[in-house]
Amino acid sequence: MSLTVNDVWYTYQEGTPNESNALQGINLTINKGEFLGIVGHTGSGKSTLIQHLNGLLKPSKGQVLVDGLELHSKENKKSLREIRMKVGIVFQYPEYQLFEETVEKDIAFGPKNLGLEEKEIKQRVKKAMKLMNLDYQALKDVSPFDLSGGQKRKVAIAGVLAMEPEYLILDEPAAGLDPKGREEFLELINHLHKEGLTVIMVSHSMDDIARYAQRMVVLHQGKLVLEGKPQEVFTHVEELESMGLSVPTLTKLLHALKAKGLPVNTELIEIQQIKAEILRALQERKGEAHA
Ligand SMILES: Nc1ncnc2c1ncn2[C@@H]1O[C@H](COP(=O)(O)OP(=O)(O)OP(=O)(O)O)[C@@H](O)[C@H]1O
Ligand SMILES: [Mg+2]
Repeated sequence: MSLTVNDVWYTYQEGTPNESNALQGINLTINKGEFLGIVGHTGSGKSTLIQHLNGLLKPSKGQVLVDGLELHSKENKKSLREIRMKVGIVFQYPEYQLFEETVEKDIAFGPKNLGLEEKEIKQRVKKAMKLMNLDYQALKDVSPFDLSGGQKRKVAIAGVLAMEPEYLILDEPAAGLDPKGREEFLELINHLHKEGLTVIMVSHSMDDIARYAQRMVVLHQGKLVLEGKPQEVFTHVEELESMGLSVPTLTKLLHALKAKGLPVNTELIEIQQIKAEILRALQERKGEAHA
């Protein structure tokens, strides 16, 4: 089971003077159960790519397959709606898409459109709110517009979760939140992944990608230029910098220490391991100094 992108090209405003080749031959397989990070400079094609994953955009060339079924297949017209439901997308600043009078109605909007029974809808709303750490009883009748920014965003994501997608795509989910809000959000998303959801997260924060993603891809001018585990990708420091990207703060620290002559392994990502590695290298140097 996977989401597969086969040589996908996408041109905005084709045939006009403003034509732009936003995607240029992307190949990517996202396996069920993984946590994939997507990074890239602004304008590199990240949002364009994720909108292909649930059929919101149709490739100018190439195909997207969800669990082996092609989106926009000519033979299989009716499948688009069904396949799409497997893939939930949370856009940047999703709180701007809230519109119902109450939190409950807003989250129920999608399931209602699926034609589900009231009881099932209510169950889904409750479950989705729980996953987003929202108190159902306290918030169900509140207007979403009276909530804080962070709560609004949780309601918006709960609305996507209530559709019970198998793949969850998030475009900069923590953008604009304060540090505590960011942390809580990313932990909630990480929890969803641990519960079995496949998570695809677009982010400008290399620190967040390093911390949560199991695999990452780097887009540059519509092409996929690097792919691998974060610790592998972040060894390409110069290449990333030439694309206007950076590496996680802790990776920078390790490189700076190494440049100063401390023999540390610069490929570590996890903070406890980095701490242990720096202590080890310091001890080793102390030992040499005494010898
Ligand atoms: N509706 C549109 N019409 C024309 N060109 C567009 C449109 N949307 C995006 N583009 C162009 O396509 C390219 C890729 O844009 P996209 O929004 O996918 O980038 P992104 O990586 O998501 O950037 P950001 O990090 O700023 O969100 C850019 O050159 C952009 O200007
Ligand atoms: Mg974008």
